[in-house]
Amino acid sequence: MTAMMELMAAIDELPVGARKSIFVDDVPALLIRVADEYFAIEDVCSHDGQPLTDGPVQAGQITCPRHGARFDLRTGKPMCMPATSPISVFAVECRADGIYVGPKESASASSAAAVASTVVTSGTTQTASSNASAVAREAQANGDVDDGAIIDALRQVIDPELMINIVDLGLVYAVNHGEKKIQIDMTLTSPACPAGPQIVQQAKMVLEKLPGIEEAQIKLTMSPPWTPDRMTDEARDQLGIF
Ligand code: FES
Repeated sequence: MTAMMELMAAIDELPVGARKSIFVDDVPALLIRVADEYFAIEDVCSHDGQPLTDGPVQAGQITCPRHGARFDLRTGKPMCMPATSPISVFAVECRADGIYVGPKESASASSAAAVASTVVTSGTTQTASSNASAVAREAQANGDVDDGAIIDALRQVIDPELMINIVDLGLVYAVNHGEKKIQIDMTLTSPACPAGPQIVQQAKMVLEKLPGIEEAQIKLTMSPPWTPDRMTDEARDQLGIF
């Protein structure tokens, strides 16, 4: 992998908190420095294609400026709705002559170990492999409830008026889960949606069928209100909206 890494920035080009737009194998990407760590992520939100270029970074996560999805900088994992798929992450190495970025990695918990964030120490290079291993262990530890299974389950719930599932409609705002419990924050296409009670009941039912889940709570919120631009491209295609 090292042979395929490319020099992307001089070290003094990226002071703490700075970012630089780059391309890695023709993929638009963002090189970000947080404290003494560097991250390289795909610069395209997996929800609806918005560049993450200007998204705020906090606590190791970047927020999409369009609808607020957050992604873990180390793994690319989506941390909240409306995004349900990861973004790609790239290996990063800080060498004496600058910051190198490697090829696209699979954005998953297992790839976290391959993401080489680096620490700059007095102009020398020190790959923080122990750091990356810790990230992988953390991802595994948190993997007791499968986010993908929750989203897949919610895709079984169809809005009977639009005949599109509630995930692709963008009605699901947040997914929180503990050991045996799931809480969903979601909205409706309008406060007076007559199908609301049915949708809430179905969401609760499909989630409580998931292995190991004893209780699902569905919290309805009208803030922020739903707008059509929360829909995925697939949903828009189905409705004939472009
Ligand atoms: S485009 Fe990023 S959250 Fe919708």
